[in-house]
Amino acid sequence: MKPAVFLTRMLPSPVMHRLKTLFDLKYNNHDRPLTKTELVRGMRGRPALISMLSDPIDAGVIESNPRLKIIANYAVGTNNIDLKAASSRGIIVTNTPGVLTDATADLTWSLILTLARRVPEGDRLVRTGRWTGWDPTQLLGTDLNGKILGIIGMGRIGRAVARRAVGFGMRLIYHNRRRLPVRVEKKINASYRPLSRLLATADIVSLHIPLTPETHHLINRRVLGRMRSTALLINTARGPVVDEKALADALKHGKIAGAGLDVFEDEPAVQKGLITLPNVVLLPHLGSATIETRTKMGFMVIENIQSVLRGKPAPDAVNRRPLKEPATAGAE
Ligand code: GLV
Ligand code: GLV
Repeated sequence: MKPAVFLTRMLPSPVMHRLKTLFDLKYNNHDRPLTKTELVRGMRGRPALISMLSDPIDAGVIESNPRLKIIANYAVGTNNIDLKAASSRGIIVTNTPGVLTDATADLTWSLILTLARRVPEGDRLVRTGRWTGWDPTQLLGTDLNGKILGIIGMGRIGRAVARRAVGFGMRLIYHNRRRLPVRVEKKINASYRPLSRLLATADIVSLHIPLTPETHHLINRRVLGRMRSTALLINTARGPVVDEKALADALKHGKIAGAGLDVFEDEPAVQKGLITLPNVVLLPHLGSATIETRTKMGFMVIENIQSVLRGKPAPDAVNRRPLKEPATAGAE
């Protein structure tokens, strides 16, 4: 008998095909997120759940299914899942690290470049027919060459962003919870700075940290006040790492010069103050959105589910060894 799996959103077709081949797959075929009630009903009695970053998997959802063994999140971030509740019930939570690193780093650079060179403003000028011809002072942006890029969070994605900075001739500084070994710093040509120092000196600040209670509103009104008035802020990590209201105010009052955002505090809602500003670029959470990457993420999810349902360790478990045996151990 094929193992029963519930999937909360449709994935790219090669992934759907493999899922249907391997599992007794039940899935949400509406083009929208499920309500909590629909989610609970859909996953009932199934040992594996494939969740999206947009699905809040709280203790109530987890407790609703005593047969659950694995929550395979289709994302690298797992802040949408109550890890403690999962661990205490012996449920493994997995993510998709590594495969989306390059796609997310590329998108980070898309934001840096489009913001620095005012690409969306130029595009709007042409489309709206208001362009009157080449102008020596029109839409002047800022050079990247020689400027300082400050990376906060030097995990896989932060390092991939750092590698790309070499090609643009930028100087690199970084902050990380733990300083990297000097050997690694040398390899990526980045110098460690305390957070306050990084914020005060970087021309571009890019965020690559997970959302945790410690990083919630890391970028707040006070921090924004310490940044250079010419600085650009890039966020491809998680929205709540930035106090969005404070950011809108800082941009409006020229405390910093611009922001490139792929994530928001309350997606899909966006702080009203941001929408009307010309010096921001806003994207709908596209960090990992390439065909190749979203396919690899799906195959990774499948591998993790297969391992757990065969009683093997999950390659990408994010919670520590669960505290007790799953309630359904041996009952498969
Ligand atoms: C995307 O935001 C992810 O965490 O995969
Ligand atoms: C993502 O894969 C990271 O750890 O930065």
